[in-house]
Amino acid sequence: MGCIYENIIRPILFRMDPEQAHDRGRTALMTLGSMPTLCALIRRCNQVREDKPVQLFGLEFPNRVGLAAGMDKDGEFARAIEALGFGHTEVGTVTPQAQPGNPRPRLFRYPEQKALINRMGFNNKGSEAMLNSLSKHYPKGKRGIPVGVNIGKAKATPLDQAVDDYLASFRTLADQADYFTINISSPNTPGLRDLQSESYLRDLLVSLRDENQSYAKKLGHQPHPMLLKIAPDLSYAEIDQIVEVLLDLNYDGIIATNTTISRPNGFTSKETGGMSGGVDLRKRSNDVINYIHRSTEGKLPIIGVGGIDSAEAAGEKIDAGASMVQLYTGWIYRGPFFAKELANALKSHGEDWI
Ligand SMILES: Cc1cc2nc3c(=O)[nH]c(=O)nc-3n(C[C@H](O)[C@H](O)[C@H](O)COP(=O)(O)O)c2cc1C
Repeated sequence: MGCIYENIIRPILFRMDPEQAHDRGRTALMTLGSMPTLCALIRRCNQVREDKPVQLFGLEFPNRVGLAAGMDKDGEFARAIEALGFGHTEVGTVTPQAQPGNPRPRLFRYPEQKALINRMGFNNKGSEAMLNSLSKHYPKGKRGIPVGVNIGKAKATPLDQAVDDYLASFRTLADQADYFTINISSPNTPGLRDLQSESYLRDLLVSLRDENQSYAKKLGHQPHPMLLKIAPDLSYAEIDQIVEVLLDLNYDGIIATNTTISRPNGFTSKETGGMSGGVDLRKRSNDVINYIHRSTEGKLPIIGVGGIDSAEAAGEKIDAGASMVQLYTGWIYRGPFFAKELANALKSHGEDWI
């Protein structure tokens, strides 16, 4: 099937403008996701279950491969993602109100590097729309895989009010999220990455932790697992500071990494935005994962993301210390059944880390 995608479907899609091709793909996934019986049939052929489900942050994952944030920005096709063999999906990044994102063109393809550059800027329909979509198409309690909700700050919100955006989306989506990811690492929202600095980060994470705890107390639940997603462009000293805050506040895990603002040697395109896929991001994210795993002695669970384009690349992330992986760009290049291939390859790979 991968062969049909790479030799027939991908060349057709890659003749289109990248965002147009993305939109076609999303429409196909939404159509599939709206047909539960067909999804169940397709899932039967694709689902990959580890011998023992992966237990992480108090959740159960059938396998270790997830869809990274940014593909299903509004939580519209999680059922289709489950049917294609993923073990979890992360929807968003969502902001409290709908926003259009940056002007097009804002997505660029670099097949030679198997990479993309995007400056989408959190185009999304807002957290209410995501709530409606998840509750209608893939409600909690009827899911085969966990759904993480990735929350962010709107472009128009000043940095010193960013916490209000995160809290608003948390409150709206708490009933439908299996876990939350706090995104402070996308390069396309002005100032967002400043939230990674200690002066903002602690206040933001304390507010969200407190909100999570009072939500759980009110409903008699366990609090939601809370993860933080970081950029690959941080120094090790900055990573140390972030990890210290996460451990101090009992956060559940870290997602490493988002897209990079750096470019490979000899890369000539001048497009601005975050680069995903490619060898350089893969190596950098592996280094970050390895560094966090060693410096925390494995105490902080890591989801490894960045440049996964083969089973070996996914295995490298597990070997570096990740408990699970996510992918985005590799899925675009390798096709809809690539997640299944990876999940099978990771079955029983590096069990010691979990
Ligand atoms: C078009 C595009 C949009 C993205 N949007 C988001 C987003 O909204 N939120 C987020 O946390 N990450 C976003 N990402 C980053 C991915 O989730 C992932 O961290 C990054 O692409 C590295 O993984 P990859 O090399 O497998 O693509 C986006 C990536 C791409 C290519």
